[in-house]
Amino acid sequence: MLSNLQQQPADALLALIKLHNSDPRADKIDLGVGVYRTGQGETPVFGAIKAAEKKLVETQDSKAYLGPEGDMAFVEALMPYIFGKANPTMDGRIEGMQTPGGTGSLRLAIAMAKRAGVKRLIVGKPSWPNHNQICADLGLEVLEFSHATAEGTPDMNALRGAVAAAEGSDAILLHGCCHNPTGIDYSNDEWDEIAGLLAEKGILPIIDLAYQGLGNGMEEDAYGVRRVLAAVAEAIVCYSCDKNFGLYRDRVGALYCMAADKAELVKIMSNGHALARANWSQPPDHGGAAVRLILEDEALTAQWLDELDQMRERMRQVRAKLAEAGKTGGVDLSPIGGQNGLFSIIPFTPEQVQAMREKHGVYFAGSGRINVAGLTTGNIDRFIAAVADVTA
Ligand code: LMR
Repeated sequence: MLSNLQQQPADALLALIKLHNSDPRADKIDLGVGVYRTGQGETPVFGAIKAAEKKLVETQDSKAYLGPEGDMAFVEALMPYIFGKANPTMDGRIEGMQTPGGTGSLRLAIAMAKRAGVKRLIVGKPSWPNHNQICADLGLEVLEFSHATAEGTPDMNALRGAVAAAEGSDAILLHGCCHNPTGIDYSNDEWDEIAGLLAEKGILPIIDLAYQGLGNGMEEDAYGVRRVLAAVAEAIVCYSCDKNFGLYRDRVGALYCMAADKAELVKIMSNGHALARANWSQPPDHGGAAVRLILEDEALTAQWLDELDQMRERMRQVRAKLAEAGKTGGVDLSPIGGQNGLFSIIPFTPEQVQAMREKHGVYFAGSGRINVAGLTTGNIDRFIAAVADVTA
């Protein structure tokens, strides 16, 4: 029976980890999968996480099951950061549950949308490849529109067209901030318009918020989510703590649903719980508990926010340095300076991507997406020179 299975290609992004590891060159550069790195090229555990983990080990008195919703104190502690301190539950219309990372949250969101009758998901192109993969696995059709113009701004005309052409049984997926893979985010004015368009059309928004705090700040990066949720009747927000708490392999995320009427929430969330039970039963606890302990403690919260500020500042410096290089060989690196988060796209041809790997030992996605945090004080000049070489 099992021999009926067809060979599947390795996930292109995750395969880059192995490809880079197997390159023996000491000066190779890893700009592949989205993990933050310091100026020395390290991905250390946050100091606030270390302190919270210590506290957790000392105080945790049971590892008994919590239920499919996970640690609700963790889920609720994040809400003021996402939805605003003034009214984090939107008058009782928002409820959440813990999920294994942002991917777990997206998986539930798309499965819930399908159960609710959604047939097609409208997604800006390019997007994180796993969005399409989850839809394909769940049997949902993806309708694509162009996310960005050739000038490197959000393609608002394409978005307007996609929303105008949408049917009532469609949902739309938007990146809350730090667009993956382009780094091209909507301005506040554009979010205002998007909120109005979605409210008018009445299609379900699913907002993927995987990089809050890595763009312009925790509050600033929540603008789009808050604006859309204030305008529409229903929405889903998929949250990840992988990047902003540096918990990648601990798989820490949450799913939030906003209902038109708070009386509907119990029914809606019961579907999330049932789907979680069928998929992973209950989410892993450790990372979420560490985040909760940080958010329950003022000093640890301040330490975490400070560490997040340092990450953001370093990425700004890398972006500024790339922008300063300007026209390099056949490409212009200056737009990267105004983009947000871990990623930007350099319009390399497939041959140039290959040459960057083989000749220069620089690894990044075939789409030309680079993780700017992989550039350090020690390798950024060499990277710029390599770009000039392969694009000349
Ligand atoms: C990425 O896009 O590199 C990250 O979100 C990691 C992943 O799981 O793909």
